[in-house]
Amino acid sequence: MDNSTLKSIAQRLMADNKGLLAMDESIPTCNKRFAELGIPQTEEYRRKYRDLIVNTQGLGEYLSGAILFDETIKQSTTDGTLFIDILKRNGIIPGIKVDEGAIPMAGFPGEKITEGLDGLHERLKAYYDMGARFAKWRAVITIGDDIPSTACIKANAYTLARYAILCQETGLVPIVEPEVVMNGNHSLAQCASVTTEVLHAVFNALYQQRVELEGMILKPNMILPGEDSTEKPSLDEVAEATIKCFLRTVPATVPGIAFLSGGQSAQLASERLNRMHTHFGDIMPWALTFSFSRAIQQPALELWQGKDENIAAAQQALLHRAACNSAAKMGQYTAAMETVSQP
Ligand code: 13P
Repeated sequence: MDNSTLKSIAQRLMADNKGLLAMDESIPTCNKRFAELGIPQTEEYRRKYRDLIVNTQGLGEYLSGAILFDETIKQSTTDGTLFIDILKRNGIIPGIKVDEGAIPMAGFPGEKITEGLDGLHERLKAYYDMGARFAKWRAVITIGDDIPSTACIKANAYTLARYAILCQETGLVPIVEPEVVMNGNHSLAQCASVTTEVLHAVFNALYQQRVELEGMILKPNMILPGEDSTEKPSLDEVAEATIKCFLRTVPATVPGIAFLSGGQSAQLASERLNRMHTHFGDIMPWALTFSFSRAIQQPALELWQGKDENIAAAQQALLHRAACNSAAKMGQYTAAMETVSQP
């Protein structure tokens, strides 16, 4: 693969005021979110929901890319236009989630390993032919008593790196997502220390597997306390801990870092990204943006409720969150945007 092509796709994904939308929930995850809101858990309702998203007018002003799931990349609107073609028409680069999910790691209770390397090369080629230009693989690292183990970190780092080089060989930019999840009552300091160790292991593995850092994107968690912790860090504390961790671990040749939201509220995710830009924008060697799923989609999903009459309101909410995160990427987000400026 011509590395300049990979590099230019990665740069386009990170360009200007833009970020990514993760709309690659697997069938069980999408159904779980639907079930919580009483939305029927059928293929047709999943299609209708993704139809609502890709047909939101104006999304291309804020999004450079959208990550799809296997079911979704093959789906179309009711008039038969493939979702992937609508995204491309709006200037949004289509991507694809290619891991097959995290399963319990044998021998390591409480820890997970992500599956999906078998047959991956052939699947990647098929997705490239369908029009995808980047891919995503998520590894899950859990903080708890005596975990994560070194074995779990190493196994996930190795798997992410094999996935990444296979992507690059096929012409797809790999999004490398080692997520230290928020489950548990760990402190912000513990999250910082585990994320630092994980990112060192991941970049070591990427180097060993000969991944071109210029042609990849990192998708990490922010440095946050666990969801059951009583710690309530300020915006400054989160921004400082997160940027400090990345400055120590992410080489300057990586074109961009695009955050997952991990279960934070939509507004907090925007505020935290914004604070990183206002306080550290000058010293960051990489672009820093969003690749959120819940922190962009959740308000829209709650408004939609599976009903056609709610589509317009849901699309407005989706566009609004995309606009807020785009402003945050420019260090121009304000809380007033939440009440006054609906796009
Ligand atoms: P959240 O933003 O909801 O954490 O999802 C991001 C993602 O892509 C997880 O793989």
